[in-house]
Amino acid sequence: MNGKKVKINVEYLRPNSRIIYPLYNSEGKKIAEARDVLTADRIASIRSDCGSIVFAVDTGREGAVSLKKMNAARMVSRDIVHEITATEKLTRTAYLEAERVIEEIVADLQSYEFEAINLLKDLKSHEEYIYQHSVNVGILAAVFARVNGDFTPDEIKRITLGAYLLDIGLVKIDVALLKKKGRFEAKDMQKMKQHPQFGYEILKNIPGIDPIVLQTVLFHHEKNSYKGYFQLPYDLLPMPPKIVSVCDIYDALTTDRPYRQALSPTDALRFLVNSIGTNFDYILVHGFINHVGPLLNNTQSFYRRGDFCELNTRELAMIMEFSMLDYLKPRVLVFCKFQRVKNKMIVKFYDRPVEVSLEDDEERRLVKIIDNPQHIHAIRTRLIEKGMIVWPFPSASG
Ligand SMILES: [Fe+2]
Repeated sequence: MNGKKVKINVEYLRPNSRIIYPLYNSEGKKIAEARDVLTADRIASIRSDCGSIVFAVDTGREGAVSLKKMNAARMVSRDIVHEITATEKLTRTAYLEAERVIEEIVADLQSYEFEAINLLKDLKSHEEYIYQHSVNVGILAAVFARVNGDFTPDEIKRITLGAYLLDIGLVKIDVALLKKKGRFEAKDMQKMKQHPQFGYEILKNIPGIDPIVLQTVLFHHEKNSYKGYFQLPYDLLPMPPKIVSVCDIYDALTTDRPYRQALSPTDALRFLVNSIGTNFDYILVHGFINHVGPLLNNTQSFYRRGDFCELNTRELAMIMEFSMLDYLKPRVLVFCKFQRVKNKMIVKFYDRPVEVSLEDDEERRLVKIIDNPQHIHAIRTRLIEKGMIVWPFPSASG
């Protein structure tokens, strides 16, 4: 056997796909011929006989995609891995997760995927920041889609690819506008808002391009409040663009820009929580906070004991204790409820504050952490006057 020995993870073999090279077990015994169709049963039997790793030998001849093209794609992929190493945004665990997805994308490359990945080169030469941002969003989306648990390995690949390419339409927008400092005028914004459509137009011409990639690029600026670029009903959107949009915002917030400083991971996660109902829905943010958040922000939580929060029940509460099971479900002390009386919103304080674990309460959900210092001061003063809290807030140990 002359050629390069390539490891193949059986988990990532797609049922009813045709393999390019023969497959071998770890002892070098052939277990499938080149061009064999791998049915689900066949994959299950390979997994049971050989475990999760099998081998192929890349001779550079049999590939459906030419060796030259494969190598070019590997170069782009190497650039991507290099970008991941250069960014200090991700923990080692997140990096390893992302690296695996990227390796698999290249190892099991379809010709349309090669063409799509290669488009990133155009983006890199067009505007470096957007290229780096796209790479970061791809990595975050790969991790989010994987830990989410609802997607097949193949779908994870498509979501990652869509995330890499989310802003590819910006290659059709003047670089001077992309680099513009300060606020955009209405006509600039109108131009910028065309980039999902431009991206879709570029990609749809690639034969065999997957709908997940197209959906992700086209709908990555839709919001929960009908305020997205196309103002579509958020509930009806597929999950991949939603996953990518939350990763898009997180990375943008945590990156320095000419017109503003980067937020810390803590503040960016807090921003996402406060976007429930406006930009995103609860389930999406819940998934990101609990599954991806710890990989990004492993030293501190995005709220503190003593922070005030709003609940979906229009109640106001103070955070007492973190939940290790679910970051969005801390133990809280509920003080009051906002009520509408004759078109006026009034606050009705309870006789005694109610201590609730949001983990056990099926009615109440945290929907906002209050950030406005004046509001925080006003609430705290009122609660101290009513004797409902002691301030300074006692530490966890005391
Ligand atoms: Fe975008």
